[in-house]
Amino acid sequence: MIKPLKFLISAGPTREHIDPVRFITNASSGKMGFMIAEAALAAGHQVKVVTGPVNLEYPEKTEVIEVTTAMEMHLAIMQNFPACDVLVMTAAVCDFRPIKTSINKIHKSDATFILRLERNPDILLSVRRLEKNQTIVGFAAETNDVIVSARRKLEKKRMDMIVANEVGGKEYGFAVEHIKATLLFKNGADREIGRCRKKDIAEVIVNEAIKIHG
Ligand code: CTP
Repeated sequence: MIKPLKFLISAGPTREHIDPVRFITNASSGKMGFMIAEAALAAGHQVKVVTGPVNLEYPEKTEVIEVTTAMEMHLAIMQNFPACDVLVMTAAVCDFRPIKTSINKIHKSDATFILRLERNPDILLSVRRLEKNQTIVGFAAETNDVIVSARRKLEKKRMDMIVANEVGGKEYGFAVEHIKATLLFKNGADREIGRCRKKDIAEVIVNEAIKIHG
């Protein structure tokens, strides 16, 4: 009999509104996060997902908290982190938000339009303040220097494991079914997965996270 763990998973993009009809976002589909949720459920664990705007069916037996902005995702993760055993941050969090969101639609003029942005908080860095014995898994979607950049992020954000993921080409990336990934661990080890279906790597990620949690 396995001991069920509590998985907290972030998924999808965040959306930072400029006005009621325009926003800054990215190409994250949320698929990876929800596949990890399915894999954890199938292995008998409890799952809570904090998701940005996605167009996906939610798995049964999963509590889903819907958010829009990075600030909302930050709050939801901070509130739910203390009760979790494993945090998996697959969300593509927007690093910046407009300093001001217009209440009304902005009409164009002939002048240059300058949009001023400010930094959003880094969720993984913030949760470190609340950490007890949680296992923390992050993602790095990179177009170049994939492994070097991912290892830098793992160390900076003191994760237990990071999924280094090559994006940008036609074959791999956000809205596709496959992923080319390498798992990097805190102890310096790595495990190259190569090209595989997101569904299959989701199972590998869940199993590795459980092993780390011990
Ligand atoms: N992340 C986060 N909070 C943010 C931005 C990212 O918790 N404000 C998490 C992501 O969910 C991911 C990891 O940090 O698990 C790495 O995200 P990424 O966007 O690749 O890295 P950044 O730290 O934003 O670095 P850079 O923008 O320089 O690539």
